[in-house]
Amino acid sequence: MSEVVRFCVSIEKPLYHQMQKLLHKSGYANRSEFIRDLIREHLVKEEWKSNKEALGTITLIYNHHKRQLSERLIDLQHDHHQNILATTHVHLDHDMCAETIMVRGRAQKIEKLANLLRREKGVLHASLSIGSTGRQLV
Ligand code: NI
Repeated sequence: MSEVVRFCVSIEKPLYHQMQKLLHKSGYANRSEFIRDLIREHLVKEEWKSNKEALGTITLIYNHHKRQLSERLIDLQHDHHQNILATTHVHLDHDMCAETIMVRGRAQKIEKLANLLRREKGVLHASLSIGSTGRQLV
């Protein structure tokens, strides 16, 4: 474990109260862990901005009756098999499917793949959740 550093922070009172509210709402036991996680969240965003090796999850919602859509989505995933770690498909009801695709690779490549999948006609919703390999977060 790394050496712990203590530092003093000065912030405006209203902002301090906002922080306390957030801390309470999120269920954090202490401010240090809350601040650590805020910094880590910022670091992950920086990893994505600077096109570092990243982890992500793409979630798609689509109607599988749409002509050849399932095939096109599978083809796209095979074209990017180096970046895909796992795919989970859930049949939401008679028509609708949800698919989560766990991806790893350069941030821009993952964003490009998410956009390719999103652009497919018949994909009703696509979201990209950004994650990290965790190397720079300790
Ligand atoms: Ni399905």
